[in-house]
Amino acid sequence: MLALILTSLVTIVPFAAGHSAFFHPSMYGFNVTDQTFPFDNRPVAPLRDRTFTDWWFHGHLDFPPNEGDFFDLPAGQPATAEIACNKGATSYFASSEGGDIRNPSNPNDVCPGASSSEAYHTIGLETLTGCALAIAYNSDARAVKPEDFTVFSVNHTCVWTRFTDFQVPANMPPCPEGGCTCAFFWIHSPKSGGEENYMNGFKCNVTGSTSTAPLATPKLPRRCGADSENNRLQSAPGNCTYGAKQPYYWFNKEGNNMFEGAFSPPVYNDLYNFLDGAQEDIFENSYSFMPDPAPNAALPILATASEPGDSSPSSDSPSPDTTATATSSSETSTATAETPSDTTPDQKQKSPTCKRKQPSSSAELASRSLTTSRGALRNSIFAMTKRSRKLQPGKRASLWHMF
Ligand SMILES: *[C@@H]1O[C@H](CO)[C@@H](O)[C@H](O)[C@H]1NC(C)=O
Ligand SMILES: *[C@@H]1O[C@H](CO)[C@@H](O)[C@H](O)[C@H]1NC(C)=O
Ligand SMILES: *[C@@H]1O[C@H](CO)[C@@H](O)[C@H](O)[C@H]1NC(C)=O
Ligand SMILES: *[C@@H]1O[C@H](CO)[C@@H](O)[C@H](O)[C@H]1NC(C)=O
Repeated sequence: MLALILTSLVTIVPFAAGHSAFFHPSMYGFNVTDQTFPFDNRPVAPLRDRTFTDWWFHGHLDFPPNEGDFFDLPAGQPATAEIACNKGATSYFASSEGGDIRNPSNPNDVCPGASSSEAYHTIGLETLTGCALAIAYNSDARAVKPEDFTVFSVNHTCVWTRFTDFQVPANMPPCPEGGCTCAFFWIHSPKSGGEENYMNGFKCNVTGSTSTAPLATPKLPRRCGADSENNRLQSAPGNCTYGAKQPYYWFNKEGNNMFEGAFSPPVYNDLYNFLDGAQEDIFENSYSFMPDPAPNAALPILATASEPGDSSPSSDSPSPDTTATATSSSETSTATAETPSDTTPDQKQKSPTCKRKQPSSSAELASRSLTTSRGALRNSIFAMTKRSRKLQPGKRASLWHMF
């Protein structure tokens, strides 16, 4: 009898609703089924129009992980998460009400048997909008407040594959005793289904830390990239929030921090200055100069970024890590030692000439932004941040067309 029920669930559950969640034993709500709550509150259920207690941690704070279950975050390395539309499509199928529904011919299938628009709210690679992992340095999830979360890793091609790598920033400090509290966040493209928010909380722990500098207080992300859908063809790099940023809380009844409309949702990609991969600039010591963002504001200055174009002959092959292995040129050390008002872009424009090849067109930059690897992209943005402060405002803007 039970077997019969399970068999029928297999055919219904996975295809009934095409949404995605982060699955791991460290999560809150690991064993929540569509029967646990009076309504379907499985981890994959989308969050919209909910009260704060219903959406925060997906309403799963009363369903904590077992003692000792943590999602490890190795500093400077990737952490691989499993994202699926049903627990039965993950390695944890054994405790799924529908059993194992993994696709034998494609282990990366996020939602076996479903079309991508159902499964991922995605109609193709070009409509992927990215997802994010955020962390709070507090082991007590109940004490964590929305403004405590900092996004530390983003994957722009999320939720395309079940196994999804999240690069962990190299400078992540160790968690307090009892670990940290983390959460997965996702908002899909407006082109692929009604708008909604996703959040799954979990217990996490940073391993292999080599730095103890704390994270900076996270700020609200701002829309600053080129946005052709909304007729904004130019990016506004001065308008971006740099450094530590909060996740988006959006489209619920209470507790929202973003108020964009249904057709221009806040997303985890360049549109809001979330670079693909590790968010390496989220620490208290990441920047030496951080003006308030505004469309015409000066760009911030990273405290320790190297300038590969200025100091090394192999400037076209970016080093794997700009911040940690920085070898400051004299120009850099002067800049970081000066007071902020002395380091405005305009005053720096006469410093030593930039030896890096200027991209010939914004199209070249744009195509590079799509094809470069994570590290190269990050490096080029760091380099551009450094480089752009030496340029006239007009030229500066041309460097940022890739956004
Ligand atoms: C989830 O269910 C499985 C199987 O019943 C059990 O072994 C595990 O301890 C449960 N985990 C939690 C966090 O309740
Ligand atoms: C995003 O995840 C995919 C699938 O695991 C992986 O191939 C890709 O490298 C990840 N992106 C980044 C920036 O880590
Ligand atoms: C977190 O990781 C650190 C470094 O490996 C370890 O010392 C600590 O015991 C871990 N914390 C928990 C709660 O497991
Ligand atoms: C600047 O950011 C704000 C906040 O996200 C946004 O409303 C505004 O449209 C942005 N302006 C430009 C020019 O990008």
